[in-house]
Amino acid sequence: MADQVNVHFSSSGKSFTAVAINTASKAGEWIKSKLGAYTTLDVKTSHHDLVTEIDRGSETMIKNLILTHFPDHSFLGEEGVVPGPMASAKALADVQDAEYLWIVDPIDGTTNYVHSYPFYSVSIALAYKGEVIVGVVYDPSRDELFVAEKGKGAYLHGKKMHISPDATLSQSLLATGFPTDQAIALPTNMRGLQAVAPKVRNVRNGGSAALHLAYVAAGRLSGYWEINLNSWDLAAGSLLVEESGGQITDTRNHPYNLAVRNIVATNGYIHQELVDVLDQADATGL
Ligand code: IPD
Ligand code: CA
Ligand code: CA
Repeated sequence: MADQVNVHFSSSGKSFTAVAINTASKAGEWIKSKLGAYTTLDVKTSHHDLVTEIDRGSETMIKNLILTHFPDHSFLGEEGVVPGPMASAKALADVQDAEYLWIVDPIDGTTNYVHSYPFYSVSIALAYKGEVIVGVVYDPSRDELFVAEKGKGAYLHGKKMHISPDATLSQSLLATGFPTDQAIALPTNMRGLQAVAPKVRNVRNGGSAALHLAYVAAGRLSGYWEINLNSWDLAAGSLLVEESGGQITDTRNHPYNLAVRNIVATNGYIHQELVDVLDQADATGL
């Protein structure tokens, strides 16, 4: 745990959270204005893993804005990293010890974005000595801005968010995602889906990990799990979940940290039940 006494939320009079909010809003409005108008579509690790020039442009805009305000801070963005889990883990390890590290997904939900399916987001987190202290997820399609500060709660347009009261899996609406890795991660998550689906009200696959976490924080989802994600998918959303009273761990119920790739995030009440189902189905990926 970061020492609350020593955590600063500003530097030279500039609020980290204000910069995160302004930057996410600007980038979100820009990507929304370009919806349906991308000109370059490249595949990364496979045809399930897409990137457009809008992803790259959004990241450049975000990086420039943040580093203009805080030139001494470190920056980790998806599009600045060689694709694939090994390179992602190494890129994180290289900067994880930075005092202040911004972790950014310039479009979370690129597949949706490419198909003009309006469920995608901009995810911006700031970690202080490895612990997330600011998390902002912006959904430009609905103009919904989800904001959390460590120890200060999580808010949607200024209104405090709370997790859902659902007490059991049978009362729950969950979300998951279908991993881009087809060899190991996808079959693993399909085992999880097969085991979880009969036990819950239903399961969604919205296609944006950051928004799924924001929806857990807002009480719209009882929980969410997925395997083989990256730090930029999860960092901002992890704080939203924690600060709204929820729980976020790896799929074996160990505490979340920036290196966790297999995630379970819930309202807390159904956490153990969900972890147990995934474990029994050999679906933790760990
Ligand atoms: C993806 C989204 C999706 C999840 C994938 C992620 P991207 O991020 O979060 O919901 O299922 O695993 O890679 O590639 O659109 O930034
Ligand atoms: Ca992502
Ligand atoms: Ca992305």
